[in-house]
Amino acid sequence: MSSPAPRGETVRLEDYRPTDFVVHGVEMTVELFEGRAEIETTLSLSRRNGVPADAPLLLDGDELELTSLALDGETLSRSYYEADPSSLRVEGLPASGAFTLSIGTRIVPETNTKLMGLYRSRGVWCTQCEAEGFRRITYFLDRPDVLAPYTVRVEADRAAAPVLLSNGNPVEGGPLDGGRHYALWHDPHPKPSYLFALVAGDLDVLTDSFTTASGRPVDLAIYTEKGLASRAAYAMDAIKRSMRWDEERFGREYDLDVFNVVAISDFNMGAMENKGLNVFNHKYVLLDSDTATDTDYAGVETVIAHEYFHNWTGNRITCRDWFQLCLKEGLTVYRDQRFTADERSATVERIGSVRGLKAHQFPEDQGPLQHPVRPREYKEINNFYTATVYNKGAELCRMIHTILGADGFKKGMDLYFERHDGEAATIEDFVRSFEDATGEDLQQFSLWYNQAGTPTLAVEERFDEGAGRLTLSLVQSLQPGAADTGTEPFHIPVRFGLVGPNGADMEPAAVSGAEVRGDVIHLRKARESVVFEGLGARPAVSILRDFSAPVTLEMRQSEDDALALSRLDPNLFNRWRVLTDLVGRALTAGVAAARRGTDVTFDPKLVEAILASVGDETLEPAFRAQILQLPSESEIGRMVGSDVDPAAVHAARESTRRRIGADGAELFAKLSEAGRPSGAFSPDADSAGRRALANTALDLLTAASGDLTAAERRFRDADNMTDRLAGLSILVNQFAGSAEAGAALDAFFRRFEDDDLVLDKWFALQAGVPDEGTVERVAGLARHPRFNLANPNRARSLFGSFASANPLAFNRADGAGQRLVAEVLLDLDRLNPQVSARIATTFRSWKTLEPRRREKAREALTWLAGRPGLSTDLSDIVERTLR
Ligand code: ARG
Ligand code: ZN
Repeated sequence: MSSPAPRGETVRLEDYRPTDFVVHGVEMTVELFEGRAEIETTLSLSRRNGVPADAPLLLDGDELELTSLALDGETLSRSYYEADPSSLRVEGLPASGAFTLSIGTRIVPETNTKLMGLYRSRGVWCTQCEAEGFRRITYFLDRPDVLAPYTVRVEADRAAAPVLLSNGNPVEGGPLDGGRHYALWHDPHPKPSYLFALVAGDLDVLTDSFTTASGRPVDLAIYTEKGLASRAAYAMDAIKRSMRWDEERFGREYDLDVFNVVAISDFNMGAMENKGLNVFNHKYVLLDSDTATDTDYAGVETVIAHEYFHNWTGNRITCRDWFQLCLKEGLTVYRDQRFTADERSATVERIGSVRGLKAHQFPEDQGPLQHPVRPREYKEINNFYTATVYNKGAELCRMIHTILGADGFKKGMDLYFERHDGEAATIEDFVRSFEDATGEDLQQFSLWYNQAGTPTLAVEERFDEGAGRLTLSLVQSLQPGAADTGTEPFHIPVRFGLVGPNGADMEPAAVSGAEVRGDVIHLRKARESVVFEGLGARPAVSILRDFSAPVTLEMRQSEDDALALSRLDPNLFNRWRVLTDLVGRALTAGVAAARRGTDVTFDPKLVEAILASVGDETLEPAFRAQILQLPSESEIGRMVGSDVDPAAVHAARESTRRRIGADGAELFAKLSEAGRPSGAFSPDADSAGRRALANTALDLLTAASGDLTAAERRFRDADNMTDRLAGLSILVNQFAGSAEAGAALDAFFRRFEDDDLVLDKWFALQAGVPDEGTVERVAGLARHPRFNLANPNRARSLFGSFASANPLAFNRADGAGQRLVAEVLLDLDRLNPQVSARIATTFRSWKTLEPRRREKAREALTWLAGRPGLSTDLSDIVERTLR
């Protein structure tokens, strides 16, 4: 790893070794012109102790042009170096002591459609360097364990770019000849190159300020395209709440004089935590009630918090190498989840996170793209910013918290910050901090980082009435999968409760068998039992409370117990979970019935239980809305597991919706109107929950009645985007092709024509219509004047939504849906390999389809794999998916 691996070659964790040279400081001058950027980078370097005196310096590059090279200020003779667009090799460097190397490079931001490195988005110069974008700006040791302070001078035409930003604190600025000007920035905190950022443009700004717990004043600023700064107000509020929360909950203060955020229209990902200069996809900054939904508000809050929290978990302590990515991502997702739990509702946050995990991470972990939370090898690191690294990574942090308790977890985090501040760390460092702080042995637990796959946890209960003795037997198992990383038993923390007839948790007189601490069973072997003595009555077993481990739970609990838990369990998450499991079971049976052509039936007792919870006014509206949200068609497909017929899945789900809608008509009519928040729009969690419940109720009510008037009214009279889009989506999904749906879509388009973020919703909504004709309509929308494949949000809104949220049309039996996506991926790959590779992962469950559709998917993938000149990003995904 000390020499750069050529693109497309496998990089392995076991090959890690430190660089031969140490970088002590980086000074850059970036001159921006129309059509080109000239960059001069001066590196202060020294040879690492013990490295042979003749070892050359090997720097990474990517599509670079070298314009000059000097050693200690003297131009280097050609015989000392070799340069090509992707590497620079320098010989004859000093055997010892410090020296400087000055590197001139020229790039063309305007033609950078990959949106990695320095590029232009609507005239704004901006950067994205994680994971390997810095090498598209200058030659560098572009890896996360090379940390240095940076001083950056940016120069540009004053009219084109009155705003000039980089990392750290502003030092000075001023005019230059010819209408140009400059700004000088200094970042004193040593950082890896992936955290470098630069932004220049004609931007509006919203400013504010924050004083840290120890009294440091911080200037806050959010930069947007012209005229949009007022839409950054909620994001600004979220920044301040995040800063306070990290002080209070994790004892972490901000450490620069300024914190800047920039909203960019063309962005490959959600956002990026560059030190002191977070760059965001504008979708996660810009909001107002007229254009953004409650879900958008929650998304902005989460992403703002996530990027801010990276300042400590990612920036102050970074990753030694990219195999340790979950060290910062899993931990930071965990932190943003805790933030959301505190700011909104812990139960609703947990339900949302578990839903997301099951919808995205489980299929990844159970399919051809399977990899451990800490992968051992990669061809293209950008393909490992996955649900497994992020979301399962977060689950592992949560399990450490569950195992150690709040106090132990805090001690471990504090020790981690104390020991590794300013370093590039590993998962071993992280785990050891918890072990050393608490004395707990986490070696077996560490298997979670290295073994891929979702383990199954089977639980059986036996109650001896006479003795008052309950025996729980727990069996864990792990099937070998695509990653083939072993199947040793994990340390699984199983949170539980024994719910008595009155709804309170029962206290057994004695417990024996597997280790139990408080309300957590520590399962360490493949099979273990726990015996609870002295129970006065048979409890209902509430197992895996709060989803305390990312497993597939198998428990044949009696329906009576499950229904009792749905009413009584003090753990609200599990009230949701038992109902969801029963619904899941009913839906899979329904799919089988639909395939046989028999009627899909639904247990009336289950509908009754659902309606009882949904009607329970003592519960939060957002929680009740979650109970009413059936699993998506993709999620049902995953539950069915193999030989999946998406048409049968659709039929079973629809008939269940109609059934619930009909049985609950009276309640839903009430909720859909009277349950809505009154007064002026507010995005707070409670109001959002009320809207969610009202709109879900309206959706089901309409599904049962077939009458579109109420939905039309919701659309027409809405004073906010949440209600407007809810009404529109009922019309478009349930009345596809009707004159009313068409008119509403047109009205929506005309009203929001100039707003890209809203237009994305317009494209996404149509791509998701569960109708086989959607294939042709999506192909037509790709020719719409407002469609633009080069804009990642737009590409994702049409094709990402189609392929990920519309299994019925995407997997149409004639293969036309999959073929359409494969063809678009080929075009997109030429522009932006990262986005094409990401959308290609929507094929990951193809092997679970019924034979005919499976064969069509194979054809589309094989066709794509055979196209010449695919990017490493896309070919890596397609080849692993086919394998
Ligand atoms: N670190 C960024 C975040 O989690 C995301 C970067 C994604 N990078 C990539 N190459 N896909 O907020
Ligand atoms: Zn992150």
